[in-house]
Amino acid sequence: MTSVPEPSLHAASPWWQKRPDGCLLIQGGPPLFGTYPISGAKNAVLPLMVAALVTPHLVTLHNVPASLDVAVLSNLLQRLGASLSWSQGSAGLSLTLCADRIQSAQVDAALVGRMRASVLLLGALVARCGAVRLPLPGGDAIGLRGIDFHLAGLCAMGATVTLEGGIIHAVAPRGLRGAEIRLPQPSVGATENLLIAAVLAEGTTVIGNAAREPEITDLAACLSAMGAAITGAGTDEVTVLGGRPLSGAVHAVMPDRIETGTIACAAALTDGAILLRHARVDLLGAAAPILAAAGVALSPREDGVMARRAPGGLSGVDIQTRPYPGFATDLQAPAMALLTAAAGASTVTETIFEQRFRHVDELRKMGAHIQVQRRTAFIRGVPRLSAARVTATDVRAAAALVLAGLGAAGTTTLEGLDHLDRGYDGMAEKLLACGATIARAPP
Ligand code: UD1
Repeated sequence: MTSVPEPSLHAASPWWQKRPDGCLLIQGGPPLFGTYPISGAKNAVLPLMVAALVTPHLVTLHNVPASLDVAVLSNLLQRLGASLSWSQGSAGLSLTLCADRIQSAQVDAALVGRMRASVLLLGALVARCGAVRLPLPGGDAIGLRGIDFHLAGLCAMGATVTLEGGIIHAVAPRGLRGAEIRLPQPSVGATENLLIAAVLAEGTTVIGNAAREPEITDLAACLSAMGAAITGAGTDEVTVLGGRPLSGAVHAVMPDRIETGTIACAAALTDGAILLRHARVDLLGAAAPILAAAGVALSPREDGVMARRAPGGLSGVDIQTRPYPGFATDLQAPAMALLTAAAGASTVTETIFEQRFRHVDELRKMGAHIQVQRRTAFIRGVPRLSAARVTATDVRAAAALVLAGLGAAGTTTLEGLDHLDRGYDGMAEKLLACGATIARAPP
């Protein structure tokens, strides 16, 4: 990961506090009880912030998670000429963006290198400015993560795209036009990128084999509030009647379903009971019944979801990650941490990303019994993991290792905290409030 001077992040996101380098010490054991406020979804807020580029009017987002990814994208948008203002109130952290003057000429390579979601800038900028040069995006080391669907879709809409020396150059001097696009597989990012671009393209765009993730529905809701004509978001065919005049919008970011599933696992693993404030079970898709079968009891309430261990205890289950409404790949690592302590055998098959088992070796250091064959992990539950020094290699692996530490005997030391801070707004601090013994420490 390229290092970016933190003061520049602070300039666009005054709330951002670079946490001192170090590790997380997690003393496992105590059951967690209390209320854990679920933040706005990381994977929803990033496309929503980019969507603000399609209109010259004010876009206000409420319930913005104060995460490192949000700080990095804020900085990128500010450098493009957007103005950002922040406030804190009853709707959480709010961001108002104004993109009345945008220059796509140079996008900061170091910042783009920090975040895969920066590829979403491509559609918005080529549509709005007619040309963009974007360094190939960075992000988690979890597989090939091609962007060919994004590029092919924009080409179908009339852009000319070339790739040279790690820089994507996209031009459409006379603007984009609507097109019929069929994605080879339901990519979340490509669906979002093309949806944002289609709002500014003249004519009708149909995105076939679109991803159906709730974050796409959230994005479409915000774009529709600006005046865009979108139908089918949340299904596998999204239709956009582009080129309509757009206004501003006010939109509350949906609750984070990945944080919801992760902390529900923490409640069950430690045999506690946590009220996941603002959470919604319906956003979990297939993960809800699978987690229930594993012994994670989820009871919807008016103010969120109560999560605890089911009376029958934790049991092994078989999981296959799938595009939504299937079991989310982002919940795969946290679910595996839970299953290391579940009675009997489990299997976890990763079908979305080809390198998403990097947490397995770390869990093994803690005494987990896991064998990997190709894309399937075979797990035999042990009564309890034991503490170890472990390192997070991506955002979701970081969350999984926090879970493992909470359930383990002894004090786990977790390194690679940038990954945790990238994706979660104060996870350690919110767990502390639920009775976890967890603290940041110098390296
Ligand atoms: C998003 C999420 C990420 C989640 C993933 C799958 C954000 C910011 N990130 O990532 O947390 O794990 O969805 O739910 O929302 N692919 C290609 N070519 C492309 C695009 C995708 O081959 O042009 C492949 C990828 O390598 C992967 C699969 O399609 O194997 C799905 O990827 P995609 O849905 O695009 O993931 P992201 O949008 O990057």
